[in-house]
Amino acid sequence: MERKWWKEGVAYQIYVRSFKDSNNDGIGDLRGIIEKLDYIKSLGVDMIYLNPINKSPNDDNGYDISDFEDIMTEFGSLADFDELLSGIHNRNMKLIMDMVINHSSDEHPWFIEAKKAKDNKYRDYYLWSKGKGENPPNNWGSFFGGSAWELDKNTGEYYLHIFSKKQPDFNWSNKNLREDMKKMIKYWIEKGVDGFRMDAINHLAKDMDFPDGEMKEGALYGDFIPYVQNLPEVHDYLKELRKDVFTGDQVVIGETGGINYENAHVYTGLDNKELDFTFHFDMHSVGKGEKPWERVEIDLIKDIKEKMTGWATREENEGWCPIFYSNHDTTRTVSRLGDDKEYHALSAKMLATLQLTHKGTPFIYYGDEIGMTNAADFQLEDYRDISVSYGYREYVLSGLVSHENYVKGLNLTSRDNSRTPMQWNDRKNAGFSDVNPWIRVNSNYNSINVEKEEKDQNSILNYYKKLTLLRKEELALVYGSFKEIDEDNKSVYSYERSLGGKKILVVCNFFGRDAEINLSDEVVDSGYKLKLDNYGVYNKGSIKLQERLVKLRPYEARIYIN
Ligand code: GLC
Ligand code: CA
Repeated sequence: MERKWWKEGVAYQIYVRSFKDSNNDGIGDLRGIIEKLDYIKSLGVDMIYLNPINKSPNDDNGYDISDFEDIMTEFGSLADFDELLSGIHNRNMKLIMDMVINHSSDEHPWFIEAKKAKDNKYRDYYLWSKGKGENPPNNWGSFFGGSAWELDKNTGEYYLHIFSKKQPDFNWSNKNLREDMKKMIKYWIEKGVDGFRMDAINHLAKDMDFPDGEMKEGALYGDFIPYVQNLPEVHDYLKELRKDVFTGDQVVIGETGGINYENAHVYTGLDNKELDFTFHFDMHSVGKGEKPWERVEIDLIKDIKEKMTGWATREENEGWCPIFYSNHDTTRTVSRLGDDKEYHALSAKMLATLQLTHKGTPFIYYGDEIGMTNAADFQLEDYRDISVSYGYREYVLSGLVSHENYVKGLNLTSRDNSRTPMQWNDRKNAGFSDVNPWIRVNSNYNSINVEKEEKDQNSILNYYKKLTLLRKEELALVYGSFKEIDEDNKSVYSYERSLGGKKILVVCNFFGRDAEINLSDEVVDSGYKLKLDNYGVYNKGSIKLQERLVKLRPYEARIYIN
């Protein structure tokens, strides 16, 4: 296995808007991150991934870029960026930037130009089509709700936007657009950025005949996925970027909806080298009932084990993978996969155990290290996500869903759950800002915050630090083989990692009830000793694994090493 910095490191994802506000305007910013670099380093983190920081009118919080080579005004300046980057490098960490190249903002100069006339130089940088009478060109609905087409009155044609109407999609079949994009990415590489997370990257190519999508039962729009996702040309564009732009040691990560461990190799296979690994959506909907406001118990085998083991046991030539549960597009880890009430700390630590001992690169989402939870008491007016207002119009105002159920659904599934301000301490606005933040602070910041957990040896935070340290000490956790144990166990996820003679055994009880696991003689005879556990067993080193039947308490997690 080829050794790489981005395989051995632990990553930390920061939603910049919500991390730390340095100038008290209610919005997190680059100087806020600079202030907190020592904190981040103290977690044992090696790389920082930032959500988009480019100039943007913020229709979709920075995913609608109006200047790719400048910094969002609220976040700071290019000088702040340079200072942040050197602060990161001086601490021996790396920076991964979000790269949003599937679309721009409708306020980008290219789009403003493109709208002027059909023969404008930039017209063909975007995707246009004539309507059908009074209607859009076809029945595609955007990911955020509403039609995927918006009429430009001036030229009488519609432009395609698979996200919000303020995010017109680029036409990647246009060579000039591709050249401009390459120049732009090189600009950041020259600044010293170490890697990129390529937003919505498997959408770059579209079927430009724009055929109607199949109308599925209950759907308001036709299914456009077959025409906008994973088209063959995407591979040409990615190969071109690799050849012309990503020629150094940068890590190139894709965000690829609809891709799973069985087919990810089409992007990450070592023979094509398009992407180093991809973010998937495997864990996003776990526990979601039929309706957004309903929840079901996790099916450990189907929802977690099959997927995580699936990624971890791919052939080496199929590529690498990330290990993550949450990001800015889903809900809080402990609320979705653990228990954010009775077993808050235990379940958060169990999930951390799994994340830091599994195979792949761990991405810790800001706030998960202190066990931040969903914003369960948010009312409609507390939400900020663009998709909430679209959804409200489409479902509540049209009478399909009651207001009450809609809000209940948001409480459980909205992306804003994982975008609330970082909880630094128990003072005003959780220490995030002196003024009201752009999105409400989670009301539990008195009990869940960094300051409190730093002082408590048994906190989730200090447990994370032990895990990142262990991952540095044991190369087997990075490059070791992965073997699941007791696959049919419906309560406990357990596996062995091994490299050379070193063996590590991990057992995680996924539920708030007692459980047990049956080990084979071979495992018991491996000479395992307890190394770390989430109940804080005293005198760990002298506890040898001697019995085949291991009993576990609610959410108990243990790591044994031979
Ligand atoms: C990606 C981002 C998401 C954004 C969308 C449009 O899925 O992760 O936050 O809304 O792309 O850019
Ligand atoms: Ca600010």
